[in-house]
Amino acid sequence: MNPINVGLVGVGTVGGGTVQVLKKNAEEISRRVGRDIRLLMASSKDLDAAKQICGDDVQIVADAFEVVRAKDIDIVVELIGGTTIAKELILEAINHGKHVVTANKKLIAEYGNEIFSLAQQKQVMVMFEAAVAGGIPIIKTLREGLAANNIEWIAGIINGTSNFILTEMRDKGASFTDVLKEAQNLGYAEADPTFDIEGNDAGHKITIMSALAYGIPMQFDACSLEGISHLDGKDIKYAEELGYRVKLLGITRKTDQGIELRVHPTLIPESCLLANVNGVMNAVYVKGNVVGPTLSYGAGAGALPTASAVVADIIDIARLINTSPNNCVPYLAFKSDHIKNIPILPMEQIHSSYYLRICAKDEVGVLSEVTRLLAEQNISIEAVIQKDASNKQDAEIVILTHGTIEHNMNKAIENIEALSTTHGKVIRIRMEPFDA
Ligand code: HSE
Repeated sequence: MNPINVGLVGVGTVGGGTVQVLKKNAEEISRRVGRDIRLLMASSKDLDAAKQICGDDVQIVADAFEVVRAKDIDIVVELIGGTTIAKELILEAINHGKHVVTANKKLIAEYGNEIFSLAQQKQVMVMFEAAVAGGIPIIKTLREGLAANNIEWIAGIINGTSNFILTEMRDKGASFTDVLKEAQNLGYAEADPTFDIEGNDAGHKITIMSALAYGIPMQFDACSLEGISHLDGKDIKYAEELGYRVKLLGITRKTDQGIELRVHPTLIPESCLLANVNGVMNAVYVKGNVVGPTLSYGAGAGALPTASAVVADIIDIARLINTSPNNCVPYLAFKSDHIKNIPILPMEQIHSSYYLRICAKDEVGVLSEVTRLLAEQNISIEAVIQKDASNKQDAEIVILTHGTIEHNMNKAIENIEALSTTHGKVIRIRMEPFDA
């Protein structure tokens, strides 16, 4: 049988890894598909470097549009990232009848609806396993392995950079700023780390998983983002004393009112498997109504783990290349005419437990005033500890609450901050007991 011809757009870290995997595992891949997968063309700004990586039998071009329009290419693999040229290239590839594999989470989370709609029209497949959690096959898990379930919630450690920083802050008692510098020196964090540390990257990934879990359109604009740059090492330490770890989680949950879609630092019990996912590793916890909780763990980034996902998508397409996309697993896991516009809830309406740290005068009656204001909003307390403040007159009150609606917590915090016996802002970190 003729080989399946692949055109690669972008020969950077993941592109290089993809070439390596296609070569290294060529024989087994060919046994899996029943045909050879041949890298026919690649585009790169650095022609010499690309030639070295891809080898002499691959045609290297500078213009990526040549690849997506080339007559002989069956599958275009987009690995340049971003949402400008990458989007144009993918739409052009689809318009030319090519199947597409991409690792571009931003593009899928922000423009996936448009891309899938065109792909449906042109009857081609668009695969994006590498866009979420690198080498962990979570897209396949959600679209296929858990298809029998109503997904109740997903909670994931899906940004390795943030997880590395939080792990080091806890292990070494170091500040956010110092650990960020270390992460940059080790090459884990970008020179401009904003996307990783402020939750955007995790937001793209949880948006994609939410769409697949609930059969809703991609709605990155509605995803609430809070990163880790404002976290104080003190709260990580106090959380630890109370039996919790702080992790940046992407969370999506279906409720009777709508869908929660959010990224924020979160206290989770240290006995929970997710709490023990350290360093740059990723993990995704999915609760299905029939399977119960499941946990997928692995490398969320890196050339070879990400290439593992890219090549798995190439193999999937190669196996199905003569099948109408109408008979394949739908892009968003649900048939496109059954995608529902279920509303994403504003943060005020989400349900969560909370960690609060309040700086207050160390005087008779202060704690009871604070607890009264929580009770007024119908918020139940799970635990309270008091810590010395830096001066003798003040104390730090740390409170863990049971679950409540965020609106009630906002109101309680506003009232606590207005007390004459408290100082400054109340520190609030959301908490997930995962016991429901
Ligand atoms: N920058 C991401 C992370 C990896 O730190 O996990 C690519 O999604």
